[in-house]
Amino acid sequence: MNQSFEKTYQDIERHIRTAYSSSLGKRRREIITPALILDLDVARRNIDFMSTRLKSLHAKLRPHVKVQKSVQLAKMQIEAGAIGVCTATVWEAIVMSSGGVKDVLIANEVVGGEKIEALAQAAKSGHFTVAIDDPHNANDLSKALTKAGTSVDVIIEIDVGMGRGGIRSPNEAVNLAQHLRTLPGLAFRGVQGYEGHCMLEPNREVRIRKAHEAMDCVGRTIDKLAEAGFKSEIVSAGGTGTYDITGADPRVTEIQAGSYVFMDNFHGNLVPGFSKSLTVLGTLIIQHGNTIVFDCGRKSIGIDFVQPTMADYPSYAARYFAEEHALFDVDEKCPLKLGDRIEFIPGYGPTTVNLYDAYHVVENGVVTDIWPIIPRGPGHGGLLT
Ligand SMILES: Cc1ncc(COP(=O)(O)O)c(C=O)c1O
Repeated sequence: MNQSFEKTYQDIERHIRTAYSSSLGKRRREIITPALILDLDVARRNIDFMSTRLKSLHAKLRPHVKVQKSVQLAKMQIEAGAIGVCTATVWEAIVMSSGGVKDVLIANEVVGGEKIEALAQAAKSGHFTVAIDDPHNANDLSKALTKAGTSVDVIIEIDVGMGRGGIRSPNEAVNLAQHLRTLPGLAFRGVQGYEGHCMLEPNREVRIRKAHEAMDCVGRTIDKLAEAGFKSEIVSAGGTGTYDITGADPRVTEIQAGSYVFMDNFHGNLVPGFSKSLTVLGTLIIQHGNTIVFDCGRKSIGIDFVQPTMADYPSYAARYFAEEHALFDVDEKCPLKLGDRIEFIPGYGPTTVNLYDAYHVVENGVVTDIWPIIPRGPGHGGLLT
């Protein structure tokens, strides 16, 4: 196992920055397509808006960086008041820690020999908290951490209605907390109750009711844990769709919202106050009558949940997204012609970002920086060399 994650991360960073450096100084529509564009002026406004909103809420912000996979953006969020970050994978967590983020929560279970071993090695130099919902997993983590001579904090994940990870009853949480007490290398710190099933709810009144029910489920579990002598210092929950609902709950200490930095067509329809900072630049490569086709199909843009749209022509609907082709039906009024480059708003940001090596960071319409996306894809992205 490679123990020098920091150096490997820096090598990958340097390589990507160099590979895309020819874009620096270009205007945003001059970049080779398909390309991922981050409008930093808009992202800054989103970060500031969230920071201002959170001042009147109870919880602090711990942004989920599975959305953006960027140490540079994470540091901006922390400068604006976030208490740390959360990640979906151990690899994202190692990248964040290697890039200098001090407080990293893996808001997911870490299972499997190599992943646990990587966490144990990384925990020698960084501070990690890990979600857990199974005593066998706890045993495996404890064994590897003890062997490596290190430790992590843990929070018990609660299933609050999503049916994914998490213990299913308050008694199960108490049993797990009691088991954790017997294991070296693991320190109980609290709970996570991510109410993902509420994010998709378009009706705000229904979303509020469902989010309250989910947090009541968290409340029952932390009360039962407290009765058994386990105080939950961390109560982590919430996403972009519920940040102002769950963040106002006095039982919740931190909010895991991530997509608010970019927004996308999925979240943009649900949460007001934020603007779209992430786009994909594409070129019109085929035109037949009222059908126009761009070079940014589903290998270039996340189409989950909601379809992408043309940023400047939102009224034209996509017909479909093939691998390398995005087909739109337009009318005679549409001025677009072969070779035109236009920007698209992704249907879903996280599955768009994951397709790219880097952001073309744009300020005032010009590419001013290249920000690597590490790890690209779901795996270790070259961290284990
Ligand atoms: C555990 C967890 N927390 C928080 C989020 C919220 O992310 P977002 O703000 O992008 O909706 C997610 C999204 O999938 C998640 O899985």
